[in-house]
Amino acid sequence: MLKRTRLVYLNYPNNPTAAIAPRDYLERTVAFCRRHDIVIANDNPYCEITFDGYVAPSIFEIPGAREVAVEFHSLSKSFCMTGWRLGWAVGRSELITALSRVKSYVDTGAFLAVQAAGAAVLHAAAAHLGPYVAQFRERRDAMLPALRAQGFEPETPRATMYIWVPLPEGLPSAAFQRRALEEVGVVVMPGSGFGAGGEGFFRVALTVATPRLVEGAARLGKVLAAV
Ligand SMILES: Cc1ncc(COP(=O)(O)O)c(C=O)c1O
Repeated sequence: MLKRTRLVYLNYPNNPTAAIAPRDYLERTVAFCRRHDIVIANDNPYCEITFDGYVAPSIFEIPGAREVAVEFHSLSKSFCMTGWRLGWAVGRSELITALSRVKSYVDTGAFLAVQAAGAAVLHAAAAHLGPYVAQFRERRDAMLPALRAQGFEPETPRATMYIWVPLPEGLPSAAFQRRALEEVGVVVMPGSGFGAGGEGFFRVALTVATPRLVEGAARLGKVLAAV
């Protein structure tokens, strides 16, 4: 398996779990990939959406990462531009050249006016980000107690726009999600939708205003009480 491995994909801060990577985990991964000549694709679109003083690192802060890593970022999350198809990749030239070749077979660049809008947003990024991140923090800080009051036990995320909520032992996440949708009109993502490892959890996205989130938590509590 190791012999055939060419690429390791990392995504911290993580969607859907909101997990963050300890620095020594990144150091060990970079060292491992250098030893085995494996490329790291570091998908880092949530690095600005962090709370409580946490700063999500670039992979390039890790010694040796320049040899093996390509870091991806997107305007979809930090700049609320989902669907605009704007992002970037950073890495040493051989890796970016290979990526560009593959990408040029798959599609072409975004319409130039859209790219210009993205560039304008990046120039103004410093002013936009503070209030934008504060809004997610406020929603998180309202939603966590609202969920806990209903009997859910989520950990406090230090990054991303998600809360990853464990379900009681043995309750399939797809069944819970279906009841949430059909019985109380709340949309959550079942953990199993992200792969077998996500079973036993559901994901809340903090992408609506606080009063709707709090109302959603109360409705989810009704489903939990009924299962
Ligand atoms: C980890 C991660 N990478 C990439 C994306 C998608 O980014 P884009 O809209 O730039 O394709 C998402 C969006 O959900 C994401 O969570």
